[in-house]
Amino acid sequence: MEFIIIHQQAQPYIAHIQLNRPKELNALNLQLMQELRDTLKALDEDDQVRVIIISGNDKAFAAGADIKQMAGKTAIDMYNVDQFSTWDTIKKIKKPLIAAVSGFALGGGCELAMLCDMIVASESARFGQPEIRIGVMPGAGGTQRLTRAVGKALAMEMVLTGRFITAEAALQAGLINKIVPVELYLTEAFRLAAEIAQLSPLAVKMAKESVLRAFDSTLEEGLHFERKNFYLLFASEDQKEGMQAFMEKRPPVFTGK
Ligand code: CAA
Repeated sequence: MEFIIIHQQAQPYIAHIQLNRPKELNALNLQLMQELRDTLKALDEDDQVRVIIISGNDKAFAAGADIKQMAGKTAIDMYNVDQFSTWDTIKKIKKPLIAAVSGFALGGGCELAMLCDMIVASESARFGQPEIRIGVMPGAGGTQRLTRAVGKALAMEMVLTGRFITAEAALQAGLINKIVPVELYLTEAFRLAAEIAQLSPLAVKMAKESVLRAFDSTLEEGLHFERKNFYLLFASEDQKEGMQAFMEKRPPVFTGK
């Protein structure tokens, strides 16, 4: 891997991927996105991993798709390269993804953070969809996921002006989960991951799938989907263990079976 670092597992069941093009503020070129996709797919199949953290560095989570790589392209080049197909695969990752964001999360960087399930940010985090300033518009879900997260008024403002918002404004708007000082954003992401990693991985995956379904379905369909997953979990050993442990007043031990 050239543009990402897969850190040694510091805590059980938690994987940490770091975007690593620091000189380019982690601009998301095609190779970086392919490496990220391949790594996430492998981690999704690894029983020793239950939660995945994606971070950049203190200065930038990612400053967007690589403008220099796209600048000379024609519409047909863009169609043929189909750069967003990697994003479609990442969207299907079943395990929880936590974005640990410090500094710039712009354009594709903001979209990648929103593709994750939760966002922990440092006080220095800045979110924005500035594509309009370079004559285009968001292409990796920005007009859709941002609008669903923060509502029409703020999404329109951000997408039509390219303005950045602070971590504080992002928290207030419901885009992110938590803000901590810059020296703590990874610690906080690990804390969140550790809490989830001790739960039943099957229940966690199905719960993630069900929450995401809320964005793609009517209430009736979503409720139906939720109910099926709820019933399905009664086929798991973890359901027996979780409920038995509750009755025996002891902590459960979940195995993912
Ligand atoms: N693509 C390619 N290179 C980028 C980049 C990007 N998105 N963002 C930053 N860089 C490069 C800069 O060109 C610069 O490289 P050089 O040293 O070789 O000149 C280096 O990273 C450092 O950047 P700056 O000198 O500009 O740093 P700064 O602190 O002055 O400014 C910034 C930081 C405000 C983030 C500014 O770099 C910027 O505006 N970046 C572009 C943000 C953007 O427009 N993102 C959207 C991209 S399009 C997209 O994402 C489409 C989509 O929906 C998927």
